[in-house]
Amino acid sequence: MSVFYRAGTGLLRRLPAERAHMTTVRLLRAGLGPKSPSIDRPELHTTVGGLQMPNPVGLAAGFDKNADVPDAMLRAGFGFVECGTVTPRPQIGNAKPRLFRLSEHDAVINRMGFNNAGLAAFERRLQKRAGRPGLVGANLGANKDSTDRVADYVTGLERLWGLSDYFTINISSPNTPGLRKLQGADEMDELLGRLQEARETLRTDDEDFPLFLKVAPDLTESAVPRVVEQVRGFGFDGLIVANTTIDRPESIGARWADEAGGLSGQPLFEKSTRLLAQFHAEARGEIDLIGVGGVGSAEQAYAKIRAGARAVQLYSALVFHGPALVGEICDGLVERLRADGFANVGEAVGTA
Ligand SMILES: Cc1cc2nc3c(=O)[nH]c(=O)nc-3n(C[C@H](O)[C@H](O)[C@H](O)COP(=O)(O)O)c2cc1C
Repeated sequence: MSVFYRAGTGLLRRLPAERAHMTTVRLLRAGLGPKSPSIDRPELHTTVGGLQMPNPVGLAAGFDKNADVPDAMLRAGFGFVECGTVTPRPQIGNAKPRLFRLSEHDAVINRMGFNNAGLAAFERRLQKRAGRPGLVGANLGANKDSTDRVADYVTGLERLWGLSDYFTINISSPNTPGLRKLQGADEMDELLGRLQEARETLRTDDEDFPLFLKVAPDLTESAVPRVVEQVRGFGFDGLIVANTTIDRPESIGARWADEAGGLSGQPLFEKSTRLLAQFHAEARGEIDLIGVGGVGSAEQAYAKIRAGARAVQLYSALVFHGPALVGEICDGLVERLRADGFANVGEAVGTA
């Protein structure tokens, strides 16, 4: 990656966090993003929920909430890009400031609250890119003031069916009050049941799209077997482990202890990887797992794969290290796979 991008990333870091993000998206929309040759090496190929990915490093939800720049992010080298969270109606989100860089910890706290332009705008943007190569998923959410949140997810699925390569059902954001309650046993029965029903009517013999459930890293270990059983029972294809945490580990210090929102980045790595390993032990390969939380190096991406992930996603590390990181992680992964005698990512999954 050129000196130009490293310098640019440095300048952006001097802006307040949300302004830096908006500027980045604007630059990407203007076509000023990096253009890495697509990272597609046989060792890095992986499949998740039946999707064939050129490499296992994906962009996590929240960076491109409105599907403004999926192709620019694919050109930066990501193997797949998840847009959203999108809610049926537009939302302004929480009061600013709501995004904080904890630079000394390579961490972020956000309480954005699903600020997004709504399904109609998202749908139009995906329609515009229809037919282009590259895997783009849609992360679906519910409006804060919705009276039937389950219906919001069903609406998202119906509106974007055929436009998105996969769907993530996000019930794990800590910034929409009560949303995480959907992770409860009865609530999940209703949600997953209604989504399965909708999918049955939408799918054809030739066309189906995988459904992933994104969970919180704050789930207790005792919930893992139940969640796996429900996800499997309702025909979901995978789990994304995990969203941001409401924990404030001592390592980030007292200054951030009372800043509300979800914590991501390095302080989330260990906790999210432990939960991923628990899901892997329970799912035994029957449900595909995507590992998210604190991935900032090839070593960490590899650790997630060895803990059970067929692919990883990242967001926070991009804030601190810029898009060159994607290529570095992919190079480092190939080295590690070769050194350990694995022909590809799939062979390494869950070998820790
Ligand atoms: C600013 C910000 C906004 C986010 N917005 C969303 C979102 O809209 N939907 C979602 O599912 N996850 C969202 N996330 C969570 C990320 O997708 C990811 O699960 C989490 O940050 C852990 O990965 P990381 O440590 O690589 O950042 C957001 C994260 C950040 C930092």
